[in-house]
Amino acid sequence: MRQWVCAILDPESASRGARRFRSFEVILILAGVACVAARTVDSLAPAPRAAAGIVTAIVAALFAVEYGARLWAAPGIPHIGSPAPGSARLRWALSTAGVIDLAALIPSIGVVVAGGRLGDGWASAFLLFWLLKLVAHTPGLDLLVRVVRNERSPLSTVMLVFVIVLLAAATLGHLFEGRAQPERFGSVPQSLWWAMVTLSTTGYGDAVPHTIAGRVLSGALMLCGFAVLALLAGILASGFAEEVKRTEFLRIWNLVAQVPFLSDVGAIAIADIVGRLRSRNFSEGSVVIRREAPADSMYFIVDGEVEVRLDTGPVRLGAGTFFGEMALLDRRPRRADVLTTKASVLLVLNAADFYQIAGEQPTLIAAIEAEANRRRAVNIAAGRAGN
Ligand code: CMP
Repeated sequence: MRQWVCAILDPESASRGARRFRSFEVILILAGVACVAARTVDSLAPAPRAAAGIVTAIVAALFAVEYGARLWAAPGIPHIGSPAPGSARLRWALSTAGVIDLAALIPSIGVVVAGGRLGDGWASAFLLFWLLKLVAHTPGLDLLVRVVRNERSPLSTVMLVFVIVLLAAATLGHLFEGRAQPERFGSVPQSLWWAMVTLSTTGYGDAVPHTIAGRVLSGALMLCGFAVLALLAGILASGFAEEVKRTEFLRIWNLVAQVPFLSDVGAIAIADIVGRLRSRNFSEGSVVIRREAPADSMYFIVDGEVEVRLDTGPVRLGAGTFFGEMALLDRRPRRADVLTTKASVLLVLNAADFYQIAGEQPTLIAAIEAEANRRRAVNIAAGRAGN
C-alpha cells in the first residue's frame, strides 16, 4: 500500500497514475486560488461567496489529507535514505517539498485555531501559500534557475551598469530639479524614485522634471533604459535557448543509447546525429507511415513496437530497429503502411538531415543501406513465394 501511495505521489514518476495525480493537484490549487481571490471582491453576491468558501474549505482539507499521506508514505521514498520510519518522515518534513506542503496548511491551521474570528482579509494568505505550492509544480522553473546561474556574469555586469546609470541620473536630477521641486528632487535618495521610474521606462508621472536640462536628462535616461532592458532580455533569451538545446541534446543522447545500431557508430558520429534527431511519442494504433506518401523522414524505435503492413504480410519491428529508410534511399513514395502495435517512443530523422548525414557519415548510411537491401530481398522472395 505504501509503495503504491509513494509511486502516485512521486513528483518524478512518468506513470499514468502519478501524472493524473499531479494534474488533479494543479487543478485543485488553481480552483482554490480562484475561490480565495473571488472572496476578496467586496461586491461578490452572498451565494457565490458561500460556494467559494465551501470550495476553499474542501481544497484546504484535501491538502491536509495529502500532507498526512506524504508523511505516512515518506519511509517508502527510495532516495530518502533512512531505514527508520520516524527519521525518514522527519527528513521529508524538513525537505523543500515538505516545508512547502506544510506552508500550504498554515492558513487553514490559522483559521481553525482562530475559530472563524479571522476576517476575509486573512483569505489572501491562502493565495500566497497555495501559489507557493504551485511553484513546486512548475517544471520549467529549475531551467530558469540554471539559466540565471549560467548567465550570472553578463547579468551582473548589466545590472551594475543599471545601478551606475541610476545613481548618476538621480544625482543629476537632484542638481537640475532640486531647487524647482524640493519635495520630489530635494535630495539624491528622493530623486532616486524618479530615476528608477524613468530608467525602467515605467513613467508613473508623479515626478516630472520642469527644467529644460531635467527634461533632456529624462530623454537620455529613457534611451538608456531601453538599452539595458534589451541587453537583459537578450542575455536571458540566448541563455534560455542554449540551456533548452543542451537539455534536449542530453535527453536524445540517452535515448540513442537504447538504439544499439546508433550507439555503435562512435562518439563523434553520435554527437552529429543526436543534434538532428527529434523524439516523438506515439500511442498504440497510430499510423506513423502511410503507403504511397512522400518520404519526409526515417524512424528509430527506442521503445515499443510497430507493424509494417506489406502486400506479402505484416512484419513486426521492435525496440532498437529502424524503418522508413527505403523510400529515402530510393527517392520513391512509401512502400507500406507502418502502425504502432504498442505505445512507442521513436527518434525521427528528417529527410534533409538524412541526406546530409549520408555525405558526412558514409559508414552509418552503408549499414542502413545493407539492411534496406536485405529487406528488399526478403520482400521479393516473399512476393515470388506468394505467386
Ligand atoms: P519505406 O518504404 O520508407 O516505408 C515502409 C517501411 O517499411 C520501409 O521503408 C521499410 O523501412 C519497412 N520495411 C519494408 N519491408 C520490410 C521488411 N521486409 N522487414 C522490415 N521492414 C520493412
